[in-house]
Amino acid sequence: MSPVPPFGFATATRVLFGAGRAAELPDVVGALGARPFVCTGKNPARHAQLLDRLPAPRLVHPVPGEPSVETARLAVAAARAHRADVVVAIGGGSVLDLGKAVAALLGNGTDPLDHLEVVGRGRPFARPSAPFVAVPTTAGTGAEVTANAVLAVASAGVKASLRGPSLLPSVALVDPLLTLGCPPAVTAASGLDALTQCLEPLVSSFANPLTDALAREGLQRAGRSLRAAYADGGNVDARTDLALCGLLGGMALANAKLGAVHGFAGVVGGMVDVPHGEACAALLVPVVEMNLRAAADDAVLERYASAARSLTGRANASVADLVAWLHETVAQLGVRGLGAFGLSVAHADEVVAKAAGASSMRGNPVPLNEEQLREVFAAAL
Ligand SMILES: NC(=O)c1ccc[n+]([C@@H]2O[C@H](COP(=O)([O-])OP(=O)(O)OC[C@H]3O[C@@H](n4cnc5c(N)ncnc54)[C@H](O)[C@@H]3O)[C@@H](O)[C@H]2O)c1
Repeated sequence: MSPVPPFGFATATRVLFGAGRAAELPDVVGALGARPFVCTGKNPARHAQLLDRLPAPRLVHPVPGEPSVETARLAVAAARAHRADVVVAIGGGSVLDLGKAVAALLGNGTDPLDHLEVVGRGRPFARPSAPFVAVPTTAGTGAEVTANAVLAVASAGVKASLRGPSLLPSVALVDPLLTLGCPPAVTAASGLDALTQCLEPLVSSFANPLTDALAREGLQRAGRSLRAAYADGGNVDARTDLALCGLLGGMALANAKLGAVHGFAGVVGGMVDVPHGEACAALLVPVVEMNLRAAADDAVLERYASAARSLTGRANASVADLVAWLHETVAQLGVRGLGAFGLSVAHADEVVAKAAGASSMRGNPVPLNEEQLREVFAAAL
């Protein structure tokens, strides 16, 4: 057994999980504030019944797509004009990240660029966020329990994070029934993101026993239910497994970091219009294959073997079984290569240079050189 490294662990202040628990949202919000600012997806009518029961006066703010510095500024201005005292986000990772950013910027009276990593001033948040309730409707990014909010920065052509312990939501309310309406393409992309967010922390150089336990449980749930939820979106058991996988992956990544899949995904997501989950899905197999080839350390191979056992549910599964399972799954779920989103080998220099400096790359269990990163990118096209 390997020695236990020193580690810490932080998550949302409260986590509420279970089918039907969205009914508790009005009370949860009412206990935190009286003037909610509510971020939703582009179609708020999807959650009309839930929205109608929230405390009033409330301001509902639909989010058109993955958030950017500009959409965050507009949302903060609207929340300030409303004199919001609690922020609620009901939606996919895009909506949760916008809500998280609004709560932090509202609490601090600052601009996104004061705090953004990589392209901004990177200043820590000095004051607490406004109370923030995160209600995911995809399964999922795990953004309901992470300490960062990803924003696109058009001028720099990248996505970067606001990050800090104060960004952890006050309440993560996870109701798998809210994900029943996700179409197969969203189920596939967000489900493969959730799976990756369990796999990358499990093999990460920053893994610890607590995140290992969460990541293994998440992989088991994804292994038995991702294909089932894609084939039948109304399968509540499968949706519940995936919602739990997303939640556990979020807890794991927030405390053990990620790896090369996310190192690349943030970069390509800033350059072309590719949904985050689809970028992760296209990169997953190429990164795993490269890490396995480049791993000089048996401990890394054993970590991948343990992922194989969790994902396949077979006690004797090997890393070859892991790769085979991933290949079959991305094929069954209709995952497209990055070429489908306008990327080509002509982008390799820019993608590789940016990915090498991405914060997620630090968690990758194997340091990858420029040539290896180029190979990964070419295979993901
Ligand atoms: N903060 C974090 O820790 C973290 C982690 C991973 C990803 N992210 C970010 O999350 C975003 C991606 O989130 P996502 O994968 O959830 O996608 P998303 O939020 O962009 O949603 C994808 C699509 O699904 C639709 N949708 C959402 N819920 C639905 C439902 N219940 N029924 C029908 N349609 C539904 C949305 O309207 C949208 O069209 C990216 O911006 C990514 O950078 C953040």
